[in-house]
Amino acid sequence: MSISECKIIELPKITDPRGNLTFIEGERHIPFDIKRVYYLYDVPGGSERGAHAHKGLYQFIVAMSGSFDVVLDDGMEQKRFHLNRSYYGLYVTPMKWRFIDNFSSGSVCMVLASNRYEEDDYIRDYDEFIHAIHSN
Ligand code: TYD
Repeated sequence: MSISECKIIELPKITDPRGNLTFIEGERHIPFDIKRVYYLYDVPGGSERGAHAHKGLYQFIVAMSGSFDVVLDDGMEQKRFHLNRSYYGLYVTPMKWRFIDNFSSGSVCMVLASNRYEEDDYIRDYDEFIHAIHSN
């Protein structure tokens, strides 16, 4: 469950002078079936989102507009990913502590998720996350 399994995936891009087009197919372009889509928008400057881990959820995070940073932490290593193109996304596997910051104004953060919303899948306390990592 190392951070090395989290990576930027480049999506197909149909360039067109009328406007570019990108598409995402679950289990083809990203390695899971998409059960839910949600997005963060109208994010005030200086905000930080996230600050939790998921026990079993896989996610794919795309900057649909603007830019932001996603910081991932597997309990050993921390890595910051800057997302600023709608044809790139960050694949995030379970048991990674994450937060999102450095939002540009007007940015939209879209998240594709492998499951529906379940509060029981969240770990919202960092110490509890570290404890869970080391007890596995
Ligand atoms: P949360 O995932 O905790 O975001 P953040 O860590 O950035 O604050 O979600 C914020 C709130 O929205 C929380 O009360 C749960 C709710 N929520 C849903 O009801 N459904 C969803 O799909 C998501 C992602 C959140």
